[in-house]
Amino acid sequence: MNRFSKIEALKAYKQHIEVGKLIGFVPTMGALHQGHINLMLEAKRQCDVVICSIFVNPTQFNNPQDLLKYPRTLERDLEMLSQAGVDVVFTPEVKEMYPEKDERIFHLSPLDLVMEGKFRPGHFNGVAQIVSKLFDIVEPDFAFFGEKDFQQLAIIQKLVIDYKYKVKIVPVPTVREVDGLAMSSRNLRLTEAHRDAAPLIYKTLTQSKKLFQKVSVQETEEFVMNTINKNPFLEVEYFEIVDSTSLQKLSQKSESNYPVACIAVYAGEIRLIDNIRY
Ligand code: PAF
Repeated sequence: MNRFSKIEALKAYKQHIEVGKLIGFVPTMGALHQGHINLMLEAKRQCDVVICSIFVNPTQFNNPQDLLKYPRTLERDLEMLSQAGVDVVFTPEVKEMYPEKDERIFHLSPLDLVMEGKFRPGHFNGVAQIVSKLFDIVEPDFAFFGEKDFQQLAIIQKLVIDYKYKVKIVPVPTVREVDGLAMSSRNLRLTEAHRDAAPLIYKTLTQSKKLFQKVSVQETEEFVMNTINKNPFLEVEYFEIVDSTSLQKLSQKSESNYPVACIAVYAGEIRLIDNIRY
């Protein structure tokens, strides 16, 4: 596996890729787990050359503590990527990606105004800044993103269309622990008690999917909020049933043929997100 930390070195490597070979790209912030590895394996299945980036992007953190405490496990990550058969890993420093302040504002409305966007102002602009820079450098044919970050995926799809990137976005299903907890780099930071409580999130989402067939949007919302908030180690920040394309909140079931229920929950200091299609 080749590793580059400089943009020019990665571009020089790309010059040697045979014309017509498909480049698959998986951007990450490291602290890799099986969910990331699935993205790499999917990229390998669909492409000839797989490039992964590891970069903890400061512009997408609206909470400086979260940025400081973001897990960094580079040696282990490199080992996992090499085992997964990734061809290239790009590990730039902050000054390489942001030699000067990135002042660009991306127009992602209305997708960035709801849910994560409401609770983490500026987050998606930061994601768009780094993803657009990476797309410009890597120029992939395909880019792979996990469905756990459902809103991020929708926003990147919009970014690609509105800003005319020639990359096809491939959504990859969420990978879960055996107890149902969605895999996330943040899980590493859960205390034992919070880790024990966290599977209740997906368990409740699964139950709510069945309930939604029988009761209203509001009753489903109440069920999820009450069930999770009853657990002393968990606190729901938001739970919304939205249309999977517009991400607009439903007040009635008839407003969407493809609803998705999205949730953010605090497990102590750690914020976990998950979703389920109804
Ligand atoms: O999903 C992530 O890990 C990040 O938001 C991404 C897409 C790598 C951009 O920093």
